[in-house]
Formats: sequence, structure tokens, C-alpha cells
Amino acid sequence: MSLKTLILAAGKGTRMKSDLPKVIHKVCGVPMVKKIADICSTIGSENNILILGHKKEEILKVLEDVEHVVQLEQLGTGHAVMQAQEKLKDHKGTVMVLCGDTPLLTRETLENLYKEHKKSGAVTTILTSIYENPFGYGRIVKENDNVKAIIEEKDATEEERKIQEVNAGVYCFETQELLEALSKITNNNKNGEYYLTDVVGINVSQGKKVKTYILEDNNEILGINSKVELEKANRIMRERINKYHMENGVIIIDQNNTYIEETVTIGKDTVLYPGVFLQGDTSIGENCEILGNTRIIDCKLGNNIRVESSVLEESIVEDKVTIGPFAHLRPKSYLKEEVHIGNFVEVKKSTLEKGVKAGHLTYLGDAVVGEHTNIGAGTITCNYDGKNKFKTEIGKNSFIGSDTMLVAPVVIGDNALVGAGSVITKEVPENALAVSRSKQVIKFNWRK
Ligand code: UD1
Ligand code: CA
Repeated sequence: MSLKTLILAAGKGTRMKSDLPKVIHKVCGVPMVKKIADICSTIGSENNILILGHKKEEILKVLEDVEHVVQLEQLGTGHAVMQAQEKLKDHKGTVMVLCGDTPLLTRETLENLYKEHKKSGAVTTILTSIYENPFGYGRIVKENDNVKAIIEEKDATEEERKIQEVNAGVYCFETQELLEALSKITNNNKNGEYYLTDVVGINVSQGKKVKTYILEDNNEILGINSKVELEKANRIMRERINKYHMENGVIIIDQNNTYIEETVTIGKDTVLYPGVFLQGDTSIGENCEILGNTRIIDCKLGNNIRVESSVLEESIVEDKVTIGPFAHLRPKSYLKEEVHIGNFVEVKKSTLEKGVKAGHLTYLGDAVVGEHTNIGAGTITCNYDGKNKFKTEIGKNSFIGSDTMLVAPVVIGDNALVGAGSVITKEVPENALAVSRSKQVIKFNWRK
């Protein structure tokens, strides 16, 4: 008993009206074909083979190390499978064929399909579902509950178009039976294509057993051919992901406006407000409040954190930090416990030790700021001379007055005070006051 999987992804995807190959369009952050390939790698398949053609380089960029064969001309789904003949010709077992454009399928469904196929002893088992409006899908023609054929929309009669059981584009085939039937298919149809679906009619005409495995949740088999369907798939996937988090104790105020990618983890009692995007390799702890218009990408956040209207990228944020509104953490920022960064503060590749505060209008880049230091409004680390980046080191319990320019490389000691409006170019020792600004001039009665 052995299983191989074959994913069809060579088509042009004309109906998508896109410069990108259809199957790398993303559903909740994951390219559709990657999603299918990932699932296939979890169901005990010994080879996972992709059929690629149209813009295959683009597709290979999103899939590492994948076994594939090339379909030079896209002459139909049957022709696509034939391209894998060499790889299948000695295989004694089952090949599961899937399409790269059905991203909502689940592992359980594929496992159950395979189990059913093995149990019934059919040569072909088709995954199907019932659609009230089956437009566009291949229809499953049955007689007394026995499968007779799959007829494509374009080739169907008025009567056949009324059939509501549709082909998901996923099948288990006994490999040798499949290859034999494929050698007999023709392109004698409205599209002039070699249809994989014609294998079913050939099996039946040879008296072989064909079965369907009917899925109750017809959302799962949604095929994405257009951007309207892409939006629908995103919506269904989003609902699935959000439900999973709510069931795990996350509070989502408006699930239609909360965008979480599958890779994200969130602790209980964390509240997500509308307009939050959580992406990539992000984890968020418990009891956090993530308010509207916030995007968090590849970050680790601890517990009891509040973020409002901010963008956080590739950074680490410890417990009880408050961020925003309108702050920006750029990659490699590390905010330790109880740090506060407020309005229009940008931090890049910097470590802010426990309790540091930078409330307003500040840029901290390539800096280390010691515990409980206060950074006044308008402070800027001038870290770049046009060629190189330099470090700023600020000690603990220091106070940097408003509108200070810290020209890096520069060091400010512990417990130091920098007067507002200073341009600091030399080291400030601990406990010192540094002021660097022109003296105030008063000219009495000047206006007269
Ligand atoms: C196909 C099925 C239809 C089913 C539907 C489910 C056929 C003839 N029809 O129709 O019964 O209800 O899927 O979503 O199979 N591809 C290739 N090479 C080609 C043509 C297509 O690799 O020459 C790939 C495409 O990239 C795509 C998949 O096969 O991933 C399906 O092709 P598509 O054109 O989307 O088929 P549908 O018209 O949706
Ligand atoms: Ca399709």
C-alpha cells in the first residue's frame, strides 16, 4: 500500500487576470499551492510531485525543494497528469491528484478520502460536494447512485447542468488503472482539452468501480479561478482562523475585520480590535490589547502589552510595554519590560532596557538605552553619515532633554542630563549635565 500525491499547477489561470501565476496568490498569507503542498506532505505520501508550466520559476520561488515535472503546453488537466507518467509507471498503489487552486482543503478530508478509497476498493474515488449553484464545476453524473461520468460545465446538457453534486478536482486513482485510462482520453470537447475527468467515464465503460466521497462542508472544495473567488477563500479561511483563536480564549471584537495568518499564536484574554493584522512568525502573549490599525509582522510579544495604531516588524517586546498610537518598530528592536514608546516614535535595531520612556516624536536607531532613562520629545539619534551607521549608547536613569541630536558614535553615561535643544557630539560622563546650544539673547524694547 503506497500513496503518491500529484498537484496540478501548470495552468495559466486566465480568469484570474493577473501577471502572477494563479496558484501563488495568497490566502491569509499563504500561497495557495504552498498550502496544498504542505498538507500533502502530512498525509503519508511518499512522493509529492508538482506539475508546473506557466511561469514555473515564480512558483518554485515559493516552494523550496519540490519534486516537479514540466508541462510545456497547457493542453488540459488530463494532459498535465500524463506528464508524470515516467514517475508513475512502476508505481503499484494509489495516486492522489489535487489542484493547486483549492486552498481550503484540510488534511482530515484528504486522509478520509484516501481511507474511503482503500476501504471500498474502487479504482477511482472522486471528492465531491453539493452546491446550490454549481456553475463552473464538473458535474457528477450518476445512475441509481452509481457514478457514470464527470461532465464539464461547457459540455453539459441543460439537464446535466442541474446536477448539484460537483467535482472538487481531487481524486484517488489506482495508478496503473489511471495510466491505462489516460492513454485513451481525447480532446474532443468544447475546450479542445485533454480532461482528467474523462478518466471516470473510461473506468466506468470498462466495468470498473468508481466511487464518490461527498464532503458536507462545501466551502472546503472551493476552487479559486478569479479574484472574486480569491476574496471568498480569504473570508472563509479568516473565519476559520479567527474561530480557532476565539475558542482558545482570544477576544476578537469584530471577526470580519481582524486578519490573522495561520502561523500566528495568541494567548488567552488578549483583545484584538478591528483593523488588526497579525502576520508571519508572530506570537502574542496573554492579556494584551491590540487596538485598531495595527500591523505586527514576525514579532514576539509578551503579556499585558498595549499597542495602538502602530507597525511592529521583526522585534521583541516584553511584558507590560505600551506602544503608540502611531509608533513604528523596525527590525531588531528589543523593548524590555514596562517600556513606553508613544506618538510618532520610530525605533530601529535598538534595545530599550526596562522602563525606558520615549513618549513623542523620536528616532532611536542603532542605540542602547539603559533602564528608566527618559527620552524627551524630538530626540534623534543621528546614526548615519551617508555611508555608515554608528551606535549611540545611553546609560540608565538619564534624562535626554527635548529636541536633542545625539550624533553617533556617542556615549551618554548613567544618571546624566542633557539640556533641551543640544547637539551632542562628545561623550557625556555619568552624573554630568551637558548643554550645547547658543546662549539666549535679550534685547530690551527691540520691537519699539
Ligand atoms: C477542474 C475540473 C472540474 C472541477 C474543478 C474543481 C477538469 C477538466 N475539470 O476545472 O471538473 O470541478 O477543477 O475546481 O479537470 N492545469 C494544469 N495544466 C493544464 C490545465 C490545468 O496543470 O493544462 C492545472 C491548473 O493550474 C489548476 C488545475 O489544473 O491548478 C485545474 O485547472 P482549472 O483550469 O482551474 O480547472 P477548472 O476549470 O477549475
Ligand atoms: Ca479551478
